[in-house]
Amino acid sequence: MKVRFSVYERTRIVSFRWYTIAIVRVFSILFLIQRQQLQGCCAARDNMVATQSNVALGTTFGEAAPSDFSYTVTKHFYNAFPVKSPFPGAKFRTCAVVGNSGILRRSNCGRQIDSADYVFRMNLPPTAHAQDVGSKRNLTTAIYHQMKKFQKHSKKKEEVLEMLESLYGLLFIRKPTGYLLAVDQVLQDAGRPLRLVYQNPQHYVSINDYWNRHGLNHVTVTTGLYLISSALTLCDEVTAYGFWPFPFTEFGKKVPYHYWVGHIFLPQKERGAVFDMAAEFMKIRDLHTEGVVRVVTDKCEL
Ligand SMILES: *[C@@H]1O[C@H](CO)[C@@H](O)[C@H](O)[C@H]1NC(C)=O
Repeated sequence: MKVRFSVYERTRIVSFRWYTIAIVRVFSILFLIQRQQLQGCCAARDNMVATQSNVALGTTFGEAAPSDFSYTVTKHFYNAFPVKSPFPGAKFRTCAVVGNSGILRRSNCGRQIDSADYVFRMNLPPTAHAQDVGSKRNLTTAIYHQMKKFQKHSKKKEEVLEMLESLYGLLFIRKPTGYLLAVDQVLQDAGRPLRLVYQNPQHYVSINDYWNRHGLNHVTVTTGLYLISSALTLCDEVTAYGFWPFPFTEFGKKVPYHYWVGHIFLPQKERGAVFDMAAEFMKIRDLHTEGVVRVVTDKCEL
């Protein structure tokens, strides 16, 4: 038997379809615009890592960005920069950007994260908890202060190699120092598949400016949003995990600050931050709604 719709029903179905299509269109346009704008100002492929082609010898980076950027590109540093960008010419198909929020604990997302072609991690997280966070890492950021602390503990080659044991890919640091250059040499001599690279401050500034113009007026962009923005210019699909700046889930369950430690969750003020994590997270959620980035805050399927 044929189902017959009344004219009224048919109009509703058709208009609903058009409505849905229109929404999808609007969002995909927003999506394209965001990507194109980011690509225009902030393409990561040739600019994210300081190289001999995008930074001139003798440049002094001032206070424009967070102050741990400031240094002068001496010959010593310049020679340590790669001649050209470490990223390949073609785009990556899928990328995962992994934040460190405790929301990842018992998430079971490891397999899904590791299935991405390129995995970004931040602030030198410990290499455990593979079940929840995976083990693949292609670019890992390290805070400059982490590297300084590290310097206090390890002066010997063996210690350096031990501390960087399970890392590979790129270790992405704000600025070079004599010590870091020496560490990289030790890694190269030992044939380790880990390279130290340095952030191009101009790239950071351009991404920060982009978000200052797009709704985050007085914010200093965190590493998280910086990596997501960079990934959008490097990858066809970007999924973000471990981004959750709140001490509770939507359902009121406690969320530890990091996935690897206990319940420490300091209020933002005490962290002395110029960052506004909550505002930034809302922006990331907007990107999710617009289909620009997929943000995973739930548990992953087995
Ligand atoms: C990312 O890291 C994995 C694991 O080591 C490696 O197999 C893969 O080739 C890397 N991908 C790229 C594009 O560098």
